[in-house]
Amino acid sequence: MKVQRLTVWSQGCDLWHKSSILGLWTQAGCGESNKYENYTLFRLFPTEDSQFKAIKLFEDPSNTIEILKKSRGYNDSTDLLVPSDRLLYIAQFAKENELNYDVKKNYGSTFESTEREPRRRVLRGFNVFEYHSYASIQDFIETIESRHPELIKLQNLGLSFQGRKMKLVKISQNHNAGNPIIFIDAGIHAREWVAPAMALYLIQRLVMDPEARKNDLRGVDWYILPVVNPDGYEYTRASKANRMWRKTRSKSGLADCFGVDGNRNYGYYWAVSGVSKNPCDMETYAGHKPFSEPETQMVRDVMLANADRLKLYVSLHAYGQYLVYPWGYTAEYLPKRWKKLDALARNVSVAVQRAGGQPFRVMSAGQWYPAAGGSDDFAFGAVHVPYSYTMELTDGFEFLFPESRLRHVLPQFYEGFRVFAAQIRKEFSTRQRTSRDEDDS
Ligand code: ARG
Ligand code: ZN
Repeated sequence: MKVQRLTVWSQGCDLWHKSSILGLWTQAGCGESNKYENYTLFRLFPTEDSQFKAIKLFEDPSNTIEILKKSRGYNDSTDLLVPSDRLLYIAQFAKENELNYDVKKNYGSTFESTEREPRRRVLRGFNVFEYHSYASIQDFIETIESRHPELIKLQNLGLSFQGRKMKLVKISQNHNAGNPIIFIDAGIHAREWVAPAMALYLIQRLVMDPEARKNDLRGVDWYILPVVNPDGYEYTRASKANRMWRKTRSKSGLADCFGVDGNRNYGYYWAVSGVSKNPCDMETYAGHKPFSEPETQMVRDVMLANADRLKLYVSLHAYGQYLVYPWGYTAEYLPKRWKKLDALARNVSVAVQRAGGQPFRVMSAGQWYPAAGGSDDFAFGAVHVPYSYTMELTDGFEFLFPESRLRHVLPQFYEGFRVFAAQIRKEFSTRQRTSRDEDDS
């Protein structure tokens, strides 16, 4: 019994502790120790320019406070995850700047547990309104492909750093029609679980809902990569102590630290702003060079292979209910066609709101906070995809969007995607195309 449990948990649970008694490195009983148990979620509410500035310049010398989200605008918080020995420091900072704030104590105790599910082989058994293991997600896309071979083609992209298979889901009424392509990826950041859930919902809806199949697949192809960072994703599932992991799980060079922020790793104005050069930085380490990660290479290659037909790229993230467009690397200027990017984003937001959802905050990513090396900038700047976005799903639960609410919000977001598709169809799908089918193998 004991042995069995150990083997189950040790898969992908690579958290090592130094045992003080034995002086040995041992694998922690994953799922038990959770450093976030006594962390406090600190939400700062800036209302004046001086407070925005102070937050912008905020640095934690101990490097133990984790910045979950930065604010933009007066109705938005900056969220910090603070270990107990840094509470005084942050309270002092708030006081000095007369910042309003609220707190949630014992943040880690609110983490939902991920019961390891049995691999489900039957499509009917896959509930898109649940969070799933990577193995189960792979089962789902393989099963749905085998049931709908005329609509779905899977393309093998390669292996993640730890060797997980990555498959692109291509959905089309006619794979040889040369339709414009909408490319959606999710889960480049490990802890943002609602993003892969949305990608899977899109797949299921487009294939299983007859109305969606008829209307939303008309004249446009959907390419969906539901989990860009499967190693990180499985890591966050392996134990509550890992739940806040963001980066990949690669290891390179001398530093004794893991992972690269995939969304700082793309090769367009790489590392010019908003990145860390320190491999041990938990959040925004850009990697030792652009595209150091196999996972970002695979997304890049999907974009480059389909560059001529790719008309919309959306990278799904959480959280904050933002819909942002290039440039991300700078706040100094906007792309020439920013008004088109902005207008479409606003229409998407209206559709989500009409469906009962929260509106998006629409702006350029750099106006939110400049950060270079994002996939949105690469798609737009290097691949010349005319519409490129990062969509930050949900607000109010940080990265812990409750499974029980997926049923409520995913269909609302879907209405936004219908607006995206309608625009791409209108703008790019009218030309009569011959079967330029070089991309479909
Ligand atoms: N939350 C996302 C991140 O930090 C936003 C990315 C927006 N795009 C950009 N190029 N900065 O990665
Ligand atoms: Zn993210």
